[in-house]
Amino acid sequence: MAKKPLGRQYHDATKITPWGVAADQGWPRPPRPPWFKTYPGPKVMLPPPQYQGLTVEQALRQRRSWRDFAPRAISLAALGQLLFAAQGITGRYRDRPLRTAPSAGALYPYELYALVYRVRDLAAGAYYYDPRDHSLALVRAGDLRAAMAHIGLGQEHLVSGAVVFALSAVVDRVRSKYGERGWRYIYMEAGHISQNLYLQATSLGLGSVAVGAFYDDQMNALLGLDGEHETVMYLHAVGVLG
Ligand SMILES: Cc1cc2nc3c(=O)[nH]c(=O)nc-3n(C[C@H](O)[C@H](O)[C@H](O)COP(=O)(O)O)c2cc1C
Repeated sequence: MAKKPLGRQYHDATKITPWGVAADQGWPRPPRPPWFKTYPGPKVMLPPPQYQGLTVEQALRQRRSWRDFAPRAISLAALGQLLFAAQGITGRYRDRPLRTAPSAGALYPYELYALVYRVRDLAAGAYYYDPRDHSLALVRAGDLRAAMAHIGLGQEHLVSGAVVFALSAVVDRVRSKYGERGWRYIYMEAGHISQNLYLQATSLGLGSVAVGAFYDDQMNALLGLDGEHETVMYLHAVGVLG
């Protein structure tokens, strides 16, 4: 019988059956990494999130992928609001905080980085979002647009806006509980976070677009990620409407 394409093999091997998940045979669960990362860089405290703007129904109606950005800055408050919408802490379950976006088993594999191009009162560079205190930690200073033009396969909207969010997954937070099926959950969760960004950007009157096409290895290298334990899964550009 002909071998099935890799994607189909993965899907089939990670089905839950009465006999378990085939892909897990012979693979012990890895230990669970910490819930959060901590960067030593200088911290920027973000303005607290606000609760105003469009209704969810209005935002759903108006949401569109937007690729034509004006060369204008967004405010630090808007950046903070977007980060909160994506991964902000909104509750508590046992030893860990719950977030704005759902997560299988409340394991929260995603880390969020902001590649800042044009944000008022914030120097250009790559920042790590720490939801615990709603702050940013500088990961890499400087103008990242030339690097992102290459990494993003020349997609103009990855360099013309105000900020690009990189959603990276700490894979073993999920594999430690769900084994190889956990990859499915990681892919699903990127969509939840990105939709929150879309709706929040719409509510703020900003444009945004999700981006799945980029050079994986170079994107990880830009953020100093090994691509194995933690790897960027999805990008999301936001900017002022052009
Ligand atoms: C998983 C995924 C990957 C995407 N990747 C890209 C991309 O690499 N570049 C891009 O310009 N748009 C990308 N998009 C945006 C889609 O093109 C857009 O959602 C689609 O055309 C529908 O338009 P709408 O979002 O305005 O409803 C992606 C969307 C999704 C959901």
